Amino acid sequence: MKKTIVFILFLITSTANAQQSASIVGAGKTVDPYHYASVKSVTFNKAVVASAHPLASEVGAAIMKQGGNAFDAMIATQLTLAVVYPGAGNLGGGGFLIARKSDGKSVALDYREMAPAKASRDMYLDKDGNAQNELSENGHLSSGVPGTVAGLFATMPFAKLSFKALIQPAIDLAEYGFVITAHEAAALNSTKEDFLKYSSQPSAFIKDQPWKAGDTLIQPQLAATLKRIRDNGSKGFYEGETAKLIVEEMQRGNGMISYDDLKNYTVKQRTAIAFDYRGYNIISFPPPSSGGILLAQMLKMIEKYPVGSYGFQSAKSVQLMIEAERRAYADRAQHMGDPDYWKVPQKTLMSDAYLAERMKDYNPNKASVSADIKAGTIHESEETTHISIIDEQGNMVAVTTTLNNSYGSKTVVDGAGFILNDEMDDFSIKPGVPNMYGAIGGEANAIAAGKRMLSSMTPTLVLKGNKPFMVVGTPGGTTIPTSVFQSIVNVIDFNMNATDAVNKPKFHHQWLPDEVMVESNFSAETKMTLEKMGYKMVDRGGIGRTELIKILADGKRESAADGRGDDSVAGY
Ligand code: GLY
Repeated sequence: MKKTIVFILFLITSTANAQQSASIVGAGKTVDPYHYASVKSVTFNKAVVASAHPLASEVGAAIMKQGGNAFDAMIATQLTLAVVYPGAGNLGGGGFLIARKSDGKSVALDYREMAPAKASRDMYLDKDGNAQNELSENGHLSSGVPGTVAGLFATMPFAKLSFKALIQPAIDLAEYGFVITAHEAAALNSTKEDFLKYSSQPSAFIKDQPWKAGDTLIQPQLAATLKRIRDNGSKGFYEGETAKLIVEEMQRGNGMISYDDLKNYTVKQRTAIAFDYRGYNIISFPPPSSGGILLAQMLKMIEKYPVGSYGFQSAKSVQLMIEAERRAYADRAQHMGDPDYWKVPQKTLMSDAYLAERMKDYNPNKASVSADIKAGTIHESEETTHISIIDEQGNMVAVTTTLNNSYGSKTVVDGAGFILNDEMDDFSIKPGVPNMYGAIGGEANAIAAGKRMLSSMTPTLVLKGNKPFMVVGTPGGTTIPTSVFQSIVNVIDFNMNATDAVNKPKFHHQWLPDEVMVESNFSAETKMTLEKMGYKMVDRGGIGRTELIKILADGKRESAADGRGDDSVAGY
C-alpha cells in the first residue's frame, strides 16, 4: 500500500515537473519573468504582437511560433496582461475585438460590461437629485458585469491551439511571480490608499514597504482563478467558486452583481464599421463603442482638405482636425449608446451629406464655440489597454479592453485575486453631468438594467488594395478615438513610419469642455497661433499608449509600441 502511494506521488510530482519544464515561462526560458525589457520598434518578417507589457507581447509571439495564429496570440496576450498589468489588463473588465481573417472576413466581438439587473437610471443620484460621481467611479457599486472571460471563449472558435496551452503562461506568471517595472511600482504605490479603501480585504497589490522596480509580484489567488477557468471554461468564472467569491465581495461592499447577472452575461457579435478614407479601407468597432463612428466622422470631415500639404502639426492641419473632433464628439453626447437599447443613427452620422453639413460653418481662421455647436439634427486616469497583432497568414486582430479607471474600481475580489471594473461611470449618470473623462451624455447613454455603457474604445484595422496595411488602437478614455484618428492621419497624410505615428505629440478636443488638450511636447508655435485664433489650449500628461503595426510593401511588419509606457513589441 505504502509503495503504491509513493508511486502515485511520484507520478504526480513528475507530471507537475514535466508541465513546469514544458512551460515557456521561467528563468532563462523563452519568457523570462525576471529579465525582460521593453522593445519599442522592430520590423519583423512574419508576425508581431504589440501590447502594453513586454511579457505579454513575448507570450503572444511565442504562441504564434508554436503554431498558433493571431487569435491564439490575442487570447494568451490578454490573459498575460491580466497578470502582469493589473492596472488595465483584466479578468474583471470588458473589451472589443475587431479582426480580419486571412480569408477577408471580419469579426467584431462585443464583450463590454453590462449593467447588473438591479441597476437603474437614477442609481447614482442622492435624494435631492445630485449626482454622486464617487459611487460610479470607485468601489463595489461602480462595477458592471465583466465580459472579458466570455470574450476570450467567444474568440476560441477562431484559434488553433487548446485553451489550456493559451492560459498556462498566465497561470505560471501569477503563481511564481514576475518582477515589476518602475511604472508598475509607482502606480501600485499611488493606488495603495484606494485599494485599502475600496477593497474589503488585503490583496497581493498591497504591502507594508513601498513597491520598487525589480520587486516580485506573486498572485496566488489570481493563479487559482485562472486554473478554475482552465479546468471549467467560461463556467470557471461565471459560475461556481469564482462567481461565489464575486457575489460575496459584492455583498461585503453593497455592490449589485448577482449570480444571475454573471450566469446571464453574453458576448454579442456586431457588424464591423467599414468606410473608405483616401482610398484606404478602415474597419473599426460599432456601438456600444462610439469609437468607430467618431473615427469615420473625423476622417471623413477632413478628407476633402489636402491635410498632407498643410504640414504635420501646423496650425492649419491641427485647427481643421480640432474642428472635426469637436463636431464628432457633440454627436457622441447626443446620439450614441447601446444599440440594443437606443436607436443609434449610425448610417446618417457617417454619411457624406450629413458630415458636409456639419462642416458647413467651419472657419479656417477662427475657433468655433462648442456652445454654438449642438449635435447634428437627425432627421475617461484612462486605463484601458490595447493589443495589435498580425500573424504569418495575414490574420489581423485589434483588441482594446478596459477596467475603465486605473485599477478599475480598486475593489479586489477577495479569494479570486482580480480587480473589478468601474465601467458604470461610462454611462451618463445624470444628463449633462460629466463623467470622469468630462464626457457628457443624455438619454442615449442613460443607465438601464442589462444595458452596455457607451465606450470610446477604437480597435481599428486599415486595408490598402484589400490587403492588410495597419493594425492600431490605444487606451485613453475619450481620447482614444482622437488618438487613433491622428495616428492614421500621421501615416496616410504625413507619410510617417510606425514609431513617429505613435510617438509624435497628440492633441484632443471633445466638444465639452471647450478646450484643446495637448501633450507637453506639442509645438509651442502652433499652440500660440491657435490661441490667437480663440482656442483655449491646456497642457496635460501623455495622451494614449498606441500600439501600431504597419505592413510594408514587401510584406514585412513594421511595429511600434508606445514610448509613453512599458509597451513593447515581440515577433519574428
Ligand atoms: N472605459 C473607457 C471606454 O470604454 O471608453
